[in-house]
Amino acid sequence: MSISSTAPAAAPSSHAKRGSAGPAVVAAATAADVPSLIALMNLLAAERNGLFIMPVDPVSGVAMLQAHLAAIAGNGNEAVLIAANGGEIYALATGTRGVHPARRGTLDIGIGVHPARRGEGLGTALMRAMERWAASVGIHRLQLTVLTTNAPAISLYRKVGFAIEGVLRAHAECNGSMLDEYIMVKLIEPQAPARPTADTGR
Ligand SMILES: CC(C)(COP(=O)(O)OP(=O)(O)OC[C@H]1O[C@@H](n2cnc3c(N)ncnc32)[C@H](O)[C@@H]1OP(=O)(O)O)[C@@H](O)C(=O)NCCC(=O)NCCS
Repeated sequence: MSISSTAPAAAPSSHAKRGSAGPAVVAAATAADVPSLIALMNLLAAERNGLFIMPVDPVSGVAMLQAHLAAIAGNGNEAVLIAANGGEIYALATGTRGVHPARRGTLDIGIGVHPARRGEGLGTALMRAMERWAASVGIHRLQLTVLTTNAPAISLYRKVGFAIEGVLRAHAECNGSMLDEYIMVKLIEPQAPARPTADTGR
């Protein structure tokens, strides 16, 4: 999983949920969020039908993930955004930009919402927050892959302005089957020049 966040994403924004648990706040993940974040990551990893995310050991993974968040904080290379209420994390989104100078303007995005919190607008709020973060660090191209059968996710991406750019045949192996994925893309107007790779230590 790619994780992080910097200034614009770190400015929390409130999201009024249609559900029962009150408003969720969208913000960058911090060290204190890590245990709950791992619980959500492992829940999503176990689904294995939409977001392909590696499980994390809930004991040894805490220090590792906290160190990772500290390492990437503010470097503009990665973002990990969460939607949370109190200590409960309902949703996460990650964004990772390319390392090579030719790919610095491209961001790969992943997103997952707790099964009990889907359909409440959290995915939309996180995608919009990720776009703001991306623009702020000079990214011009947002991209992701999605199973061609994942109707809720495709609808979300279309809603926030993504379009299908092509089909990646047999791109995902899922429960023993080779499945096609779409690559979906949104071009955005960067608000800042892309930082050269040399500035980021990568
Ligand atoms: C895909 C996912 C992230 C959507 O998050 P969400 O918080 O439920 O999405 P939102 O509530 O913001 O809904 C946004 C739009 O998605 C579409 N959508 C959401 N749930 C849907 C469903 N069950 N069926 C069809 N469309 C759906 C709608 O167009 C909706 O817009 P609307 O409310 O204005 O009609 C979430 O379902 C999820 O985590 N799925 C499992 C993991 C996954 O597939 N991740 C994506 C991997 S590429």
